[in-house]
Amino acid sequence: MKHLLKMLDLSSEEIIDILNLADQLKYELKHGIPHPHLKGKTLGMIFQKASTRTRVSFETGMYQLGGYPLFLSSNDLQIGRGEPVQDTARVLSRYIDGIMIRTFEQKEVEDLAQYGSIPIINGLTDFCHPCQVLADLMTIREFKGSFDGLKMCFIGDGNNMANSLIVGCLKVGMSVSIACPEDYQPPVEILEFAAKYGDKFEMTDTPMVAAKDADVLITDVWASMGQEGEAEKRKKAFAGYQINDELMAQAHSDAMVLHCLPAHREEEITEKVFEAHANEIFEEAENRLHAQKAVMVKLMAN
Ligand code: CP
Ligand code: NVA
Repeated sequence: MKHLLKMLDLSSEEIIDILNLADQLKYELKHGIPHPHLKGKTLGMIFQKASTRTRVSFETGMYQLGGYPLFLSSNDLQIGRGEPVQDTARVLSRYIDGIMIRTFEQKEVEDLAQYGSIPIINGLTDFCHPCQVLADLMTIREFKGSFDGLKMCFIGDGNNMANSLIVGCLKVGMSVSIACPEDYQPPVEILEFAAKYGDKFEMTDTPMVAAKDADVLITDVWASMGQEGEAEKRKKAFAGYQINDELMAQAHSDAMVLHCLPAHREEEITEKVFEAHANEIFEEAENRLHAQKAVMVKLMAN
Protein backbone atom coordinates (compact mmCIF):
# COMPACT_ATOMS: atom_id res chain seq x y z
CA MET A 1 0.00 0.00 0.00
CA LYS A 2 1.65 3.24 -1.19
CA HIS A 3 -1.25 5.70 -0.85
CA LEU A 4 -4.77 5.94 0.52
CA LEU A 5 -6.71 7.32 -2.43
CA LYS A 6 -9.99 5.36 -2.25
CA MET A 7 -11.40 2.22 -0.60
CA LEU A 8 -11.55 0.52 -4.01
CA ASP A 9 -7.72 0.36 -3.98
CA LEU A 10 -7.44 -1.52 -0.68
CA SER A 11 -7.58 -5.29 -0.27
CA SER A 12 -9.65 -6.78 2.54
CA GLU A 13 -6.39 -7.78 4.27
CA GLU A 14 -5.03 -4.23 4.07
CA ILE A 15 -8.23 -2.87 5.62
CA ILE A 16 -8.10 -5.37 8.50
CA ASP A 17 -4.37 -4.64 9.02
CA ILE A 18 -5.11 -0.91 9.34
CA LEU A 19 -7.97 -1.58 11.77
CA ASN A 20 -5.80 -3.86 13.92
CA LEU A 21 -3.06 -1.25 14.13
CA ALA A 22 -5.66 1.44 14.87
CA ASP A 23 -6.95 -0.65 17.82
CA GLN A 24 -3.40 -1.06 19.08
CA LEU A 25 -2.62 2.66 18.81
CA LYS A 26 -5.87 3.49 20.60
CA TYR A 27 -4.92 1.11 23.42
CA GLU A 28 -1.42 2.59 23.65
CA LEU A 29 -2.72 6.15 23.75
CA LYS A 30 -5.24 5.32 26.49
CA HIS A 31 -2.50 3.60 28.53
CA GLY A 32 0.13 6.30 28.12
CA ILE A 33 2.40 4.11 25.98
CA PRO A 34 4.36 6.36 23.59
CA HIS A 35 4.43 5.39 19.90
CA PRO A 36 6.69 7.84 18.05
CA HIS A 37 6.70 5.89 14.76
CA LEU A 38 6.97 9.05 12.65
CA LYS A 39 9.68 10.92 14.56
CA GLY A 40 11.27 13.50 12.30
CA LYS A 41 8.62 13.16 9.54
CA THR A 42 6.42 15.95 8.20
CA LEU A 43 2.87 15.62 6.86
CA GLY A 44 1.57 18.43 4.63
CA MET A 45 -2.21 18.88 4.91
CA ILE A 46 -3.88 20.66 1.97
CA PHE A 47 -7.45 21.80 2.58
CA GLN A 48 -9.61 23.12 -0.27
CA LYS A 49 -12.76 22.63 1.84
CA ALA A 50 -13.68 23.26 5.48
CA SER A 51 -12.93 20.68 8.17
CA THR A 52 -13.09 20.18 11.93
CA ARG A 53 -12.50 16.46 12.51
CA THR A 54 -10.11 15.71 9.66
CA ARG A 55 -7.87 18.67 10.32
CA VAL A 56 -7.68 18.31 14.08
CA SER A 57 -7.34 14.50 14.10
CA PHE A 58 -4.56 14.47 11.49
CA GLU A 59 -2.74 17.34 13.17
CA THR A 60 -2.97 15.82 16.65
CA GLY A 61 -2.30 12.32 15.34
CA MET A 62 0.89 13.39 13.60
CA TYR A 63 2.04 15.10 16.81
CA GLN A 64 1.31 11.96 18.86
CA LEU A 65 3.37 9.92 16.39
CA GLY A 66 6.35 12.23 16.94
CA GLY A 67 6.04 13.98 13.59
CA TYR A 68 5.17 17.46 12.40
CA PRO A 69 1.84 18.40 10.79
CA LEU A 70 1.95 21.31 8.36
CA PHE A 71 -1.43 22.92 7.62
CA LEU A 72 -1.59 24.24 4.06
CA SER A 73 -4.70 26.24 3.22
CA SER A 74 -5.40 26.39 -0.51
CA ASN A 75 -6.10 30.11 -0.03
CA ASP A 76 -2.41 30.59 0.74
CA LEU A 77 -0.85 28.00 -1.57
CA GLN A 78 -0.12 28.80 -5.22
CA ILE A 79 -2.47 25.91 -6.03
CA GLY A 80 -5.27 28.36 -5.13
CA ARG A 81 -3.97 30.67 -7.89
CA GLY A 82 -3.87 27.94 -10.50
CA GLU A 83 -0.45 26.27 -10.10
CA PRO A 84 -0.99 22.74 -11.44
CA VAL A 85 -1.27 19.95 -8.90
CA GLN A 86 1.37 18.01 -10.86
CA ASP A 87 3.96 20.71 -10.09
CA THR A 88 2.83 21.11 -6.49
CA ALA A 89 3.25 17.34 -6.03
CA ARG A 90 6.78 17.34 -7.38
CA VAL A 91 7.83 20.32 -5.25
CA LEU A 92 6.28 19.12 -1.98
CA SER A 93 7.80 15.65 -2.49
CA ARG A 94 11.21 17.27 -2.04
CA TYR A 95 10.33 18.89 1.32
CA ILE A 96 7.97 16.63 3.21
CA ASP A 97 7.20 12.94 3.80
CA GLY A 98 3.47 12.68 3.05
CA ILE A 99 0.46 14.71 1.92
CA MET A 100 -3.12 14.61 3.14
CA ILE A 101 -5.46 16.44 0.80
CA ARG A 102 -9.15 17.41 1.02
CA THR A 103 -10.45 18.66 -2.29
CA PHE A 104 -13.25 18.43 -4.85
CA GLU A 105 -12.14 16.23 -7.75
CA GLN A 106 -10.84 12.72 -7.17
CA LYS A 107 -8.54 13.26 -10.16
CA GLU A 108 -6.58 15.87 -8.24
CA VAL A 109 -5.75 13.30 -5.55
CA GLU A 110 -4.85 10.67 -8.14
CA ASP A 111 -2.63 13.22 -9.94
CA LEU A 112 -0.78 14.07 -6.75
CA ALA A 113 -0.05 10.37 -6.30
CA GLN A 114 1.03 9.98 -9.91
CA TYR A 115 3.36 12.97 -10.07
CA GLY A 116 4.69 13.08 -6.50
CA SER A 117 7.02 10.56 -4.92
CA ILE A 118 5.56 10.51 -1.38
CA PRO A 119 2.42 8.88 0.11
CA ILE A 120 -0.86 10.69 -0.58
CA ILE A 121 -3.86 10.39 1.76
CA ASN A 122 -7.35 11.35 0.59
CA GLY A 123 -8.98 13.44 3.32
CA LEU A 124 -12.27 13.63 1.34
CA THR A 125 -13.16 14.30 -2.27
CA ASP A 126 -16.55 14.53 -3.95
CA PHE A 127 -16.09 10.85 -4.83
CA CYS A 128 -15.04 9.30 -1.54
CA HIS A 129 -13.99 9.63 2.09
CA PRO A 130 -11.79 6.61 2.91
CA CYS A 131 -10.42 7.96 6.21
CA GLN A 132 -13.95 8.32 7.55
CA VAL A 133 -14.95 4.83 6.49
CA LEU A 134 -11.88 3.24 8.12
CA ALA A 135 -12.95 4.95 11.36
CA ASP A 136 -16.53 3.75 10.81
CA LEU A 137 -15.38 0.15 10.31
CA MET A 138 -13.19 0.41 13.40
CA THR A 139 -16.22 1.62 15.40
CA ILE A 140 -18.51 -1.10 14.08
CA ARG A 141 -16.01 -3.81 15.02
CA GLU A 142 -15.45 -2.19 18.42
CA PHE A 143 -19.17 -2.20 19.27
CA LYS A 144 -20.18 -5.44 17.56
CA GLY A 145 -17.05 -7.55 18.11
CA SER A 146 -16.76 -8.67 14.47
CA PHE A 147 -18.18 -8.00 11.00
CA ASP A 148 -19.59 -11.51 10.62
CA GLY A 149 -23.21 -11.59 9.53
CA LEU A 150 -23.73 -7.84 9.93
CA LYS A 151 -25.86 -5.70 7.63
CA MET A 152 -25.04 -2.01 7.08
CA CYS A 153 -27.82 0.22 5.78
CA PHE A 154 -27.09 3.68 4.33
CA ILE A 155 -29.97 6.12 3.93
CA GLY A 156 -29.68 9.24 1.73
CA ASP A 157 -27.42 10.69 -0.91
CA GLY A 158 -25.30 8.35 -3.05
CA ASN A 159 -22.34 10.59 -2.22
CA ASN A 160 -18.72 10.30 -1.09
CA MET A 161 -19.76 8.63 2.18
CA ALA A 162 -22.16 6.18 0.54
CA ASN A 163 -19.51 5.26 -2.05
CA SER A 164 -16.82 4.51 0.51
CA LEU A 165 -19.18 2.70 2.88
CA ILE A 166 -20.50 0.42 0.16
CA VAL A 167 -16.97 -0.60 -0.83
CA GLY A 168 -15.53 -0.79 2.70
CA CYS A 169 -18.40 -2.74 4.25
CA LEU A 170 -18.57 -5.25 1.37
CA LYS A 171 -14.80 -5.77 1.49
CA VAL A 172 -14.86 -6.69 5.18
CA GLY A 173 -17.70 -9.16 4.61
CA MET A 174 -20.79 -7.21 5.65
CA SER A 175 -24.05 -7.06 3.69
CA VAL A 176 -25.00 -3.61 2.42
CA SER A 177 -28.32 -2.01 1.62
CA ILE A 178 -28.72 1.55 0.45
CA ALA A 179 -31.84 3.67 0.06
CA CYS A 180 -31.50 6.74 -2.13
CA PRO A 181 -33.73 8.69 -4.54
CA GLU A 182 -33.39 7.58 -8.15
CA ASP A 183 -31.53 10.74 -9.22
CA TYR A 184 -29.02 10.49 -6.38
CA GLN A 185 -27.67 6.98 -6.77
CA PRO A 186 -23.94 6.21 -6.36
CA PRO A 187 -21.81 6.36 -9.53
CA VAL A 188 -21.69 3.43 -11.96
CA GLU A 189 -18.14 2.49 -10.90
CA ILE A 190 -19.39 1.83 -7.35
CA LEU A 191 -22.53 0.00 -8.46
CA GLU A 192 -20.46 -2.22 -10.75
CA PHE A 193 -18.15 -3.06 -7.86
CA ALA A 194 -21.11 -3.83 -5.58
CA ALA A 195 -22.82 -5.99 -8.20
CA LYS A 196 -19.95 -8.50 -7.89
CA TYR A 197 -21.19 -9.23 -4.35
CA GLY A 198 -24.54 -10.59 -5.58
CA ASP A 199 -27.29 -10.54 -2.97
CA LYS A 200 -24.95 -9.10 -0.33
CA PHE A 201 -25.74 -5.72 -1.95
CA GLU A 202 -29.16 -4.20 -2.41
CA MET A 203 -30.27 -0.73 -3.55
CA THR A 204 -33.81 0.65 -3.27
CA ASP A 205 -35.57 4.00 -3.18
CA THR A 206 -37.52 2.95 -0.05
CA PRO A 207 -35.75 3.56 3.29
CA MET A 208 -38.07 1.21 5.22
CA VAL A 209 -37.09 -1.65 2.91
CA ALA A 210 -33.36 -0.95 3.18
CA ALA A 211 -33.45 -0.71 6.99
CA LYS A 212 -35.04 -4.14 7.47
CA ASP A 213 -32.96 -6.20 9.94
CA ALA A 214 -30.02 -3.79 9.72
CA ASP A 215 -27.30 -3.92 12.38
CA VAL A 216 -25.79 -0.54 11.52
CA LEU A 217 -27.68 2.46 10.13
CA ILE A 218 -25.71 5.30 8.61
CA THR A 219 -26.67 8.57 6.97
CA ASP A 220 -25.01 11.81 5.86
CA VAL A 221 -26.02 15.35 4.95
CA TRP A 222 -28.32 15.88 1.98
CA ALA A 223 -26.12 18.64 0.53
CA SER A 224 -22.37 18.05 0.70
CA MET A 225 -19.69 20.72 0.66
CA GLY A 226 -19.83 22.48 -2.69
CA GLN A 227 -23.56 21.66 -3.15
CA GLU A 228 -24.90 24.45 -0.93
CA GLY A 229 -26.55 26.11 -3.94
CA GLU A 230 -28.75 23.02 -4.39
CA ALA A 231 -29.79 22.82 -0.73
CA GLU A 232 -33.47 23.64 -1.26
CA LYS A 233 -33.84 21.29 -4.23
CA ARG A 234 -32.15 18.53 -2.24
CA LYS A 235 -34.37 19.07 0.80
CA LYS A 236 -37.35 18.22 -1.42
CA ALA A 237 -35.65 15.25 -3.08
CA PHE A 238 -34.56 13.73 0.24
CA ALA A 239 -37.76 14.30 2.25
CA GLY A 240 -38.45 10.93 3.90
CA TYR A 241 -34.82 9.78 3.70
CA GLN A 242 -34.41 10.25 7.43
CA ILE A 243 -33.21 8.04 10.28
CA ASN A 244 -36.08 8.32 12.76
CA ASP A 245 -37.97 6.07 15.20
CA GLU A 246 -40.11 4.47 12.48
CA LEU A 247 -37.04 3.55 10.48
CA MET A 248 -35.20 2.26 13.57
CA ALA A 249 -38.16 -0.05 14.25
CA GLN A 250 -37.32 -1.91 11.01
CA ALA A 251 -33.74 -2.58 12.13
CA HIS A 252 -32.53 -5.02 14.78
CA SER A 253 -33.30 -3.76 18.28
CA ASP A 254 -29.57 -3.45 19.07
CA ALA A 255 -28.74 -1.64 15.80
CA MET A 256 -26.03 1.03 15.91
CA VAL A 257 -26.33 4.44 14.28
CA LEU A 258 -23.32 6.25 12.82
CA HIS A 259 -22.94 9.68 11.23
CA CYS A 260 -19.67 11.12 9.92
CA LEU A 261 -20.71 14.61 11.12
CA PRO A 262 -21.49 17.44 10.81
CA ALA A 263 -25.16 16.39 11.25
CA HIS A 264 -28.30 18.31 10.37
CA ARG A 265 -30.85 17.38 13.02
CA GLU A 266 -34.41 16.85 11.78
CA GLU A 267 -33.12 16.56 8.20
CA GLU A 268 -31.23 13.30 7.63
CA ILE A 269 -31.59 12.22 11.30
CA THR A 270 -33.93 13.18 14.13
CA GLU A 271 -32.53 14.79 17.25
CA LYS A 272 -34.00 11.89 19.25
CA VAL A 273 -32.22 9.13 17.33
CA PHE A 274 -29.02 11.17 17.17
CA GLU A 275 -28.90 11.66 20.93
CA ALA A 276 -29.91 8.05 21.65
CA HIS A 277 -26.83 6.95 19.66
CA ALA A 278 -24.48 9.79 20.58
CA ASN A 279 -22.04 7.42 22.32
CA GLU A 280 -21.54 5.51 19.05
CA ILE A 281 -21.39 8.65 16.90
CA PHE A 282 -18.79 10.39 19.04
CA GLU A 283 -16.71 7.22 19.45
CA GLU A 284 -16.77 7.14 15.63
CA ALA A 285 -15.48 10.73 15.59
CA GLU A 286 -12.73 9.81 18.07
CA ASN A 287 -11.76 6.81 15.99
CA ARG A 288 -10.83 9.14 13.11
CA LEU A 289 -7.72 9.89 15.17
CA HIS A 290 -6.72 6.27 15.73
CA ALA A 291 -7.57 5.01 12.23
CA GLN A 292 -5.66 7.84 10.54
CA LYS A 293 -2.63 7.34 12.77
CA ALA A 294 -2.64 3.72 11.61
CA VAL A 295 -2.81 4.84 7.98
CA MET A 296 0.07 7.28 8.47
CA VAL A 297 2.23 4.63 10.17
CA LYS A 298 1.49 2.11 7.39
CA LEU A 299 2.36 4.64 4.69
CA MET A 300 5.09 6.77 6.21
CA ALA A 301 7.08 4.74 8.76
CA ASN A 302 10.25 3.16 7.35
N1 CP B 1 -16.44 13.83 9.07
C1 CP B 1 -15.55 14.73 8.66
O1 CP B 1 -14.76 14.51 7.74
O2 CP B 1 -15.57 15.90 9.37
P1 CP B 1 -14.84 17.24 8.96
O3 CP B 1 -15.50 17.76 7.71
O4 CP B 1 -15.08 18.15 10.14
O5 CP B 1 -13.38 16.98 8.75
N1 NVA C 1 -20.79 14.28 2.35
C1 NVA C 1 -20.22 15.27 3.23
C2 NVA C 1 -19.26 14.63 4.20
C3 NVA C 1 -18.66 15.58 5.18
C4 NVA C 1 -17.66 14.95 6.09
C5 NVA C 1 -19.51 16.32 2.42
O1 NVA C 1 -18.82 15.97 1.47
O2 NVA C 1 -19.67 17.50 2.72
